[in-house]
Amino acid sequence: MQANEDYRTIKNICCIGAGYVGGPTMAVMADKCPNIRVTVVDKDEKKINLWNSDNLDKLPVFEPFLSEIIKRTRFKNLFFSNDINNAIKNADMVFISVNTPIKTSGIGAGQASNLKWVESCARQIGEAAEGYTIVVEKSTLPVKTAQTIKDILSFYSLSSQGSQDKIKFSILSNPEFLSEGSAINDLENPDRVLIGGEDQIAVNKLKDIYFNWIPSEKIICTNLWSSELSKLISNAFLAQRISSINSVAAICEESGADVREVSKAIGSDRRIGKEFLNAGPGFGGSCFKKDVLNLVYLCRHFGLEEVANYWEQVVLINSWNQRRIYKIIVQKLFGNIAGKKLAVFGYAFKANTNDTRESPSRAIIKSLLSEEAIIAIHDPKVFESQISNELEEDLTKIKINNASKNKMWTFSRDIYETVKGADAIIILTEWDMYSNLNWEKISSLMRHPAWVFDTRSIVNKVEVRTSGINFWRIGGSN
Ligand code: UDX
Ligand code: UDX
Repeated sequence: MQANEDYRTIKNICCIGAGYVGGPTMAVMADKCPNIRVTVVDKDEKKINLWNSDNLDKLPVFEPFLSEIIKRTRFKNLFFSNDINNAIKNADMVFISVNTPIKTSGIGAGQASNLKWVESCARQIGEAAEGYTIVVEKSTLPVKTAQTIKDILSFYSLSSQGSQDKIKFSILSNPEFLSEGSAINDLENPDRVLIGGEDQIAVNKLKDIYFNWIPSEKIICTNLWSSELSKLISNAFLAQRISSINSVAAICEESGADVREVSKAIGSDRRIGKEFLNAGPGFGGSCFKKDVLNLVYLCRHFGLEEVANYWEQVVLINSWNQRRIYKIIVQKLFGNIAGKKLAVFGYAFKANTNDTRESPSRAIIKSLLSEEAIIAIHDPKVFESQISNELEEDLTKIKINNASKNKMWTFSRDIYETVKGADAIIILTEWDMYSNLNWEKISSLMRHPAWVFDTRSIVNKVEVRTSGINFWRIGGSN
């Protein structure tokens, strides 16, 4: 943007990070704001090529209805590019939507977020931006990250003083609450849009963009730190609900109650609400574990040890729940699964996405592989290469020798191929297709006595049992 024109409406947006958040978010923004040119950039050239691919089945992110939006907007007002500097230079507003994984070494390893990419984005913006530029944090970040971005950018503002085109930056926080699998609907009809920031002109400009499709009463404005913290707390509350209901599932299994009935009974209380009460193999995805652990780190930093322990338990229960399911499988299969073929239905961390980050499926498969089971995986959307990379890493960790590695697992998009000769089927992702299977045919292909372990409660237990297969599902009353 040209200097001294900060009253103008936004015409050019750049988003750094063409991942699960940046891609769909910018696609919807471009679709709703035909007068704004949106350029999504990424350092990963291969990913950008896939976003630009003629074949819409090759988009790097699978999300229902995404390809239709890409078709409508791409090369019109939505562009995917590797030319990061140029996109920043032309932008009035730059969204930072890069990943912030948990640090694996150094201070805060295992809990704090690795902010090296956010920091390098801030520097890149500082170098390349021309004129007044609004920088918007989209990524979920630890509280006070905006201060880091501010400090870095203020150096570039100062160093450009005296030049004709003085840069001025405003920093906003605008966390994304979309849930994968329903991202498009969540972006088109969000419960709320949260904007944190002090510079009212910048806040208004971002509000103006959202006014194109979001009613004003849904836009909540706060200070920067409340906005950053609200995103962390939102995810922590959601994760806490899942750990709570999974702990209740274990009580149900012991006591003769049924977790589905308990969920319904408690969820009918408006104060509790119906959503997010499905017991399962635990939460996965890029956010929940990372954000809760971030919160734990923050609490310890502030000396709030009891508060930290409280939130940490949410993550500990999640892993405990996965180990619990794995132990039940081994125990039902006569305490031995070495050499047995186990069919795993679903590898994505939830249905309607090809994302596998922190997938419960991966965690449970890893435990089963450590018992030397042979795993046959089915998933309708996850790329086989993704599974291969992850399992290769896990097999190395559990010290399976190289010669055996590729005999330990198979992948197929054909259900019947997957179950052929299997002793058990473990349903780990709630893909719709798994609730409408021909159990008679599946049973005829399996080795008996055979089992179905339904960790998502999505199959008809009577049909499974009638076909001659033993049945276990999460949360009791089998
Ligand atoms: C999410 C959210 O944005 C964030 O809130 C959450 O904290 C973690 O992950 P997501 O879009 O799901 O991000 O991550 P991902 O699909 O990995 O996309 C991030 C993209 O940023 C990648 O394509 C990566 O190549 C790109 N990137 C990363 C850059 O372009 N530049 C960088 O410096 C770092
Ligand atoms: C989450 C938040 O919902 C979203 O607001 C935030 O922006 C990013 O993190 P996402 O991880 O995409 O979104 O999916 P979500 O639907 O929240 O599911 C997370 C995990 O919890 C999945 O593994 C899912 O299977 C599990 N889950 C969810 C349950 O086990 N039971 C439930 O009742 C709901």
